[in-house]
Amino acid sequence: MQVNLNQAIAKLKAGEVVAIPTETVYGLAADATNEQALRQIYAVKQRPADNPLIVHIGDVAQVPDWAAEFSPLALTLAKAFWPGPFTLVLPAKDSVSAVLRANEPTVALRVPGHSLTLQLLKESGLALAAPSANKYTQLSPTTAAHVLAGLGEQVAVLDGGACQVGIESTIVCMAGNNWQLLRHGMITEAQIRAVAGKPAIVGASNVPKAPGQHLLHYSPKTPLKLFDGLPSLTAYQQNSTQICAALIIDDYPPPNLDFSCIYLPKKNAEVAEHLYEALHRLDALNVEQLLVLMPPNSPEWLAILDRLNRAGHKD
Ligand code: TXA
Ligand code: MG
Repeated sequence: MQVNLNQAIAKLKAGEVVAIPTETVYGLAADATNEQALRQIYAVKQRPADNPLIVHIGDVAQVPDWAAEFSPLALTLAKAFWPGPFTLVLPAKDSVSAVLRANEPTVALRVPGHSLTLQLLKESGLALAAPSANKYTQLSPTTAAHVLAGLGEQVAVLDGGACQVGIESTIVCMAGNNWQLLRHGMITEAQIRAVAGKPAIVGASNVPKAPGQHLLHYSPKTPLKLFDGLPSLTAYQQNSTQICAALIIDDYPPPNLDFSCIYLPKKNAEVAEHLYEALHRLDALNVEQLLVLMPPNSPEWLAILDRLNRAGHKD
């Protein structure tokens, strides 16, 4: 069900969940101070309770409402990357709901770079807990239509168009005046290092891993195989008895293939923007096997490789 801005605000204030647009992916939002509403997010997503939620705020000035500590480095990073696809994990104030933080001592915060949602946050005065608006382990939604297809027509959606970044935010955890990368996103480690003036610390024992980074995640329903070269992909298809479709990420469109394929030019921001849309579309073909020609293993592709590797994981 589509709702407008005022209806979205009324529902959120009444403790209901509403799917909202962000520049990364659509989020399933609820008032971050209302535990009953937070439980509703977990229920609709069928998400395990040990997987904490990101709080979306309208302005960096709201950080002290949630975080017990906001180090100079954390403030520098927030000012550099907000509004934007960047999430900061900070020590939580005692007042922050344990349902929201899944009993972690920390809270994840982000100012999203989407004008309609910034307007929603400012006009409502709410802080909104919002995980991606998909069922647990399934593909993230980048349009209102994806949300309705994944969660059902009864879910309220505020349509803000197609997401421009297209994959989930970079997550950074602060440990004192150091930082650690918990999830790759389109704000790269190199960009953060340049602003921080120092590299990430790796594997510090006092830094939490992002819970909920399950291997099988971001997955289409159709099994997905990953390939490093077009020849091996086409050879697989030719020798397979299964009906295949492919996502080809390459410098040039592939020669005519005798099976369905979506081509994305090998530019990382463009691939990120269209990645989930392409996977949703391939999944809807109801073929037996999806094949993906992978981008190169280099730093600017890490976030996309991470999503594809998880989507393609098999146990
Ligand atoms: O771009 C995004 O981040 C999107 C949009 C809607 O903002 N949200 C999103 O939420 O991707 P979700 O719930 O699908 O992923 C959030 C990740 C989870 O892996 C969770 O474990 C981690 O953030 N996280 C949340 N709170 C945390 C905390 N206190 N400590 C460590 N990791 C945390
Ligand atoms: Mg998610």
